[in-house]
Amino acid sequence: MSTHALEITGLAKGFDGQGVLHGVDLSVRPGTVTAVVGASGCGKTTLLRLVAGFETPDAGSIAIAGRTVAEAGRCVPAHRRDVGYVAQDGALFPHLTVGQNVAYGLEGSARSTRARVHELLATVSLDPAMERRRPHQLSGGQQQRVALARALAREPALMLLDEPFSALDTGLRSSTRTAVARLLAKAGVTTLLVTHDQEEALSIADQVAVMRDGRFTRVGSPREVYLAPGDVFTAEFLGDCVLLPATITAGVADCALGRVPVRDGAADGAATLVLRPEQLVATTVDDGDQGERLGTVSSSEFRGRDVLLVVDLGAGEPITVRQHGIDPPGVDAKVRVDVVGTAAVLDERP
Ligand SMILES: Nc1ncnc2c1ncn2[C@@H]1O[C@H](COP(=O)(O)OP(=O)(O)OP(=O)(O)O)[C@@H](O)[C@H]1O
Ligand SMILES: [Mg+2]
Repeated sequence: MSTHALEITGLAKGFDGQGVLHGVDLSVRPGTVTAVVGASGCGKTTLLRLVAGFETPDAGSIAIAGRTVAEAGRCVPAHRRDVGYVAQDGALFPHLTVGQNVAYGLEGSARSTRARVHELLATVSLDPAMERRRPHQLSGGQQQRVALARALAREPALMLLDEPFSALDTGLRSSTRTAVARLLAKAGVTTLLVTHDQEEALSIADQVAVMRDGRFTRVGSPREVYLAPGDVFTAEFLGDCVLLPATITAGVADCALGRVPVRDGAADGAATLVLRPEQLVATTVDDGDQGERLGTVSSSEFRGRDVLLVVDLGAGEPITVRQHGIDPPGVDAKVRVDVVGTAAVLDERP
């Protein structure tokens, strides 16, 4: 028996002869959160609908808590999978009140149900007085939170959330996701979360899976996928990055930034390095300074909590440096660029 809460193997799905998912593999440990990120139309919702049981795979298999729920010619119906699903469009029952929507499927006395409904509404930052309203009397973000509360109410073994916080503003979004993550963790619910927000994926997930055109390019811990993305697509999808041609000898890269240590396991020879802009620090030097890693600031973008500097190193592409915005080197300043930590090497050969 599998020890995984969810195990997906070779999953393929197409519509009208058009392939959407092309052999997706994913293992999720019990009680953890996996975030699925990827561009619009790459197949994220299709994957969730297959796991929920609303679509049948063309090939491959899905096992939930060691029980195969979908494989060629066999499919367990959605209501027998013990899965909670919050669809991308929320989809509340329009004829029921907020309270009835959240209580849907809950068992127990009217009193205990009401207490539970209030507790869940509070978790998603909604006033319990809203329980009497109907979905059309709510804003998009409020509807989204009611849908979330309804899915949380049943405490399923596996929770599927398709961009559940997308209609919320930044502050509410971060408090709601923290409260929801806490509730899921406390109840030991395994979660698959689709999000367009890379920072959200990296901050709340135990595992991040990056999808491109119906395939995962990288699956790993947030640190792994962010700091060692493997290919250019994954690197750029998760945030700004600096790509540098280099030659590697015994764990040290020779590149436009001088000698930079690389992460373990990089083979000797020509390679492309990936650094994140926050790994670089630009310090103003005197005009007459000679030496390595010198460049000129060609532009500076103040962004509040940090500043993005573009530094021209004289050869190759200019690089981006992200540092705190207190007294940064100005445009045209001569700077030395130092590297913090190690660089990752792309799996692709240049
Ligand atoms: N029922 C369907 N019939 C035909 N094509 C479909 C169907 N469902 C999805 N598709 C197509 O499959 C592709 C993947 O759709 P999907 O909804 O999985 O993307 P997504 O990654 O969730 O995108 P978004 O980030 O925009 O929500 C799209 O090209 C979409 O048009
Ligand atoms: Mg979608």
